[in-house]
Amino acid sequence: MLRQISRSNFGRVAAATSLVAGATFLAAPPTQAQSDSSRVAISKSEFTPLTVSSNVQVGKNVHLVTLDFPNKTDSLGMTTAGMLMVQGEKRDGSGTIARPYTPVSRNDTLGKLELVVKDYPGVGNVSSHICASKPGDKLGVKGCFTKIEVKPNKWKKVGMLAGGSGITPCLQVAEELLSSPGDETEITLIFCNQSPSDIFLKDHIDALAAKSGGRFTVHYCVDKAGVFDFWKGLTGYVNADMVKKYLPPPTDDSMVMVCGPPPMYKAICGGKKFEKGKPPKQGDITGILGGMGFTNANVFKF
Ligand SMILES: Cc1cc2nc3c(=O)[nH]c(=O)nc-3n(C[C@H](O)[C@H](O)[C@H](O)COP(=O)(O)OP(=O)(O)OC[C@H]3O[C@@H](n4cnc5c(N)ncnc54)[C@H](O)[C@@H]3O)c2cc1C
Ligand SMILES: *[C@@H]1O[C@H](CO)[C@@H](O)[C@H](O)[C@H]1NC(C)=O
Ligand SMILES: *[C@@H]1O[C@H](CO)[C@@H](O)[C@H](O)[C@H]1NC(C)=O
Ligand SMILES: *[C@@H]1O[C@H](CO)[C@@H](O)[C@H](O)[C@H]1NC(C)=O
Repeated sequence: MLRQISRSNFGRVAAATSLVAGATFLAAPPTQAQSDSSRVAISKSEFTPLTVSSNVQVGKNVHLVTLDFPNKTDSLGMTTAGMLMVQGEKRDGSGTIARPYTPVSRNDTLGKLELVVKDYPGVGNVSSHICASKPGDKLGVKGCFTKIEVKPNKWKKVGMLAGGSGITPCLQVAEELLSSPGDETEITLIFCNQSPSDIFLKDHIDALAAKSGGRFTVHYCVDKAGVFDFWKGLTGYVNADMVKKYLPPPTDDSMVMVCGPPPMYKAICGGKKFEKGKPPKQGDITGILGGMGFTNANVFKF
């Protein structure tokens, strides 16, 4: 474990990890509340102000932020895989703007929701606003919106390619399937970061894999490892050999999910299609996956 963390970061990461151990999304799922005593805390049509109850740094520029619902029995009302919009101040002070984020807590966590947000210091608008928030601050939240419906045994095998904060929807899907009684989906994740010290939530992801009875396998991949990182994982950008070796091939009963920064989409599967005034479309499957025969039937771009 020490090896995964560069010496300069060890103190901070270790401290963050022990704090994070108190977070609910790391704990056993709470018992389902009676549905008649629970109401959905947030609206799909307008921003609901929620109170920040904690903000913990869990990696380089990465924060785990907890927002409390008005009522302890409220639920998120989210169908996995879902996302919501968070409002934040623009950096230049010219008003507010909203960006999409993916809760890492799910619908069975009552009374609060949890976000993992990567800050873009000096350039980010909403990301910096969320990461700078303090307990007691309010954030406007609207949603949830379903991206792709994930159900137990919908696919036999699921592959996931995540880059940086693109881990959030992959974690949501993995946790949903692994906690669903009777689900047998085999999940393989390749989690890409720039360097070993950039990897975040590793203890959490490893624990999820360890208790999955072999159903959830994780491979870490870094752009570049330093000589003192003693790196044993994958190195370099994701390539066709890694996909062939670790992810399910394109079949009717498999799905490969991709989430990362735009250059990663471009290389792996082609970007999503953005048209002004319309929701983003999946776009054709090109890149590495396109070259291997994957189509829109077995690739989903978050
Ligand atoms: C469906 C969906 C779910 C998302 N879930 C999460 C999540 O759970 N956690 C999270 O941290 N982020 C998530 N994002 C990204 C998030 O919505 C914002 O794009 C990000 O926080 C930057 O917003 P900003 O307003 O701070 O910066 P902006 O003002 O939009 O841009 C600041 C700088 O960051 C760059 N940038 C913007 N977005 C990205 C990006 N995604 N990757 C790399 N560079 C970028 C811009 O090019 C610019 O240089 C998600 C995005 C989508 C589409
Ligand atoms: C979320 O959980 C609440 C409370 O248990 C329940 O009433 C609601 O139907 C759930 N919603 C979804 C979309 O699963
Ligand atoms: C919280 O929800 C419960 C169950 O629906 C309800 O009885 C109670 O009045 C609510 N409290 C507040 C402060 O809204
Ligand atoms: C983000 O902040 C910068 C100022 O740092 C601003 O110029 C830019 O317009 C903002 N982005 C959006 C989409 O509002």
